[in-house]
Amino acid sequence: MKIVVLTGAGVSAESGIKTFRDSGGLWEGHDVMEVASPEGFARNPEVVLEFYNERRRQLLKVQPNAAHKSLAELEKYHEVTIITQNVDNLHEKAGSTNVIHLHGELMKVRCIEDENLILEWENDLNLGDLSKNNHQLRPHIVWFGEMVPMIEVAAEVVEKADAIIIVGTSMQVYPAAGLVQYAKDNIPIYFVDPKPSISETRNITVFAEKASTGVPKVVQILAQKE
Ligand code: APR
Repeated sequence: MKIVVLTGAGVSAESGIKTFRDSGGLWEGHDVMEVASPEGFARNPEVVLEFYNERRRQLLKVQPNAAHKSLAELEKYHEVTIITQNVDNLHEKAGSTNVIHLHGELMKVRCIEDENLILEWENDLNLGDLSKNNHQLRPHIVWFGEMVPMIEVAAEVVEKADAIIIVGTSMQVYPAAGLVQYAKDNIPIYFVDPKPSISETRNITVFAEKASTGVPKVVQILAQKE
């Protein structure tokens, strides 16, 4: 089977990474347009760079949880593509080998003048850190108002899916939230979230629980299918 997994911040919550819209979420303490938009970066680059430096430092200290690990396990039984809105690298750390990052990656930076000039970057990124063609480096993150370059590739992957797992996303941010519309009719969809934003239907099964317990249950079901 071709299995597609759409993940959001909730899959990393139990690893200690804040979600965005839960109480105490990341957007409670920050103005999105100040720290996650091209305008914010132009207005006050140090504030934006420090926002991502804090998140990058934290990411170096956290580990994948049972949900990430069981999704990596699923690759033993089926062809799995993870399409994540998350910018952390916990799917890869858990062993998943086919991960599409719709909103970029915290551990990468890129040249502000050439978006194809991308570097792995684990340390703090500061003003004056320049690309090899002497332009300022910026976080390799899709900011609000910017295009999502991988969305067409992701939609084509969803169109071919035989089953879909959706984990830990409030389904509020487009185009990511619209991906499930590309799925073939009547393929099984499994939704794992303690506060699910969709309801059960004929082909949607909801696990109203945390990722670390719900995802292994879904993986066990799918591992037994041909
Ligand atoms: N297990 C599973 N789901 C969880 C858990 C958990 N332990 N804890 C919280 N959740 C769920 C919440 O119920 C919510 O539905 O995770 C979801 C998190 O929603 P958001 O905070 O909106 O995160 P997400 O959907 O990933 O946001 C999408 O918005 O701000 C942008 O670019 C940012 O990629 C992000 C996008």
